[in-house]
Amino acid sequence: MVECENLVKIYKTAEIEVVALQGLDLIVEDGELMAIIGNSGSGKSTLLNMLGALDRPSAGKLLVDGNDLSKMSTQGLVEYKRKTVGFVWQNNARNLVPYLSALDNVLLPMILSGKQRKEKALELLDLVGLSHRRNNKLQQLSGGEQQRVAIAIALANDPKLLLADEPTGAVDTKTSSQILDLFRHLNKHAGLTIIIVTHDRQLARKVDRVVAIRDGRTSSELIRKKSYAEEISEIQSGESLKSDEESHLEMAVIDKAGRLQIPKEFLEAWGVRGKSMVRVDMEGNRVILYPPNEHQ
Ligand SMILES: Nc1ncnc2c1ncn2[C@@H]1O[C@H](COP(=O)(O)OP(=O)(O)OP(=O)(O)O)[C@@H](O)[C@H]1O
Ligand SMILES: [Mg+2]
Repeated sequence: MVECENLVKIYKTAEIEVVALQGLDLIVEDGELMAIIGNSGSGKSTLLNMLGALDRPSAGKLLVDGNDLSKMSTQGLVEYKRKTVGFVWQNNARNLVPYLSALDNVLLPMILSGKQRKEKALELLDLVGLSHRRNNKLQQLSGGEQQRVAIAIALANDPKLLLADEPTGAVDTKTSSQILDLFRHLNKHAGLTIIIVTHDRQLARKVDRVVAIRDGRTSSELIRKKSYAEEISEIQSGESLKSDEESHLEMAVIDKAGRLQIPKEFLEAWGVRGKSMVRVDMEGNRVILYPPNEHQ
């Protein structure tokens, strides 16, 4: 569904240039539900904006569902945004109208794109569990309910890829887990590919793959050792919830050029700041890195 290779995004303002993505590699399979985590400023929203064609990359390869977004015409991108992707933001006020009903909010983008389908809108509200609130004005709904309306809107044009930037940033833990359940449902039953950007590690660990980005580059991936479904059944049979380390395996990523990012904690333990040289050796089939000051 998604193939990014050596993706670069540079924001140029009057005097400064910010390199928000510096050669990011990412593959997302069709039908995956995955999360992207990373510190503030690491480039998560920038990546999502590129995937959603809200902005263009400065360099590198960016394919989504076979569309080459770096080469597409403006008209092509409009079409792509209409047909291929759906977007959910943290701040849902951005795409909702407070004085319209939930139903009218879902109908509005359909009207704008030329085809109003009331049945489809009702179906979507049902899907997100809000049929009973369809005639309530948006401002009468809770934050989590508003967020579910936003998800219904994002699904209005049957996208193949759903992009969610901090979709649970403004709601409590319980609502956040309901929203994740909804994503899981959409992924499983409608085969929707979903990419969630989040700060919330609790949320991230509920998906099977988590990609961590650091300084605009993929640094590591957490891969679930057992499927979430298996883990849930273990929890239900009385086992306690596992920690990140127990439930996921953290993998460092080697890019095409053979570059590897060493986890920050390891560098800190070594006392490494900035550029340094380390001896690399092979023992059997293991690659060994020696601390920077140890050359023998
Ligand atoms: N429109 C822009 N113009 C200039 N610089 C930008 C712009 N948008 C983002 N940046 C810069 O690019 C870098 C990456 O920003 P981005 O918004 O992708 O981070 P993020 O990982 O989403 O952070 P957060 O978790 O805080 O949302 C930051 O240094 C940011 O200041
Ligand atoms: Mg962001």
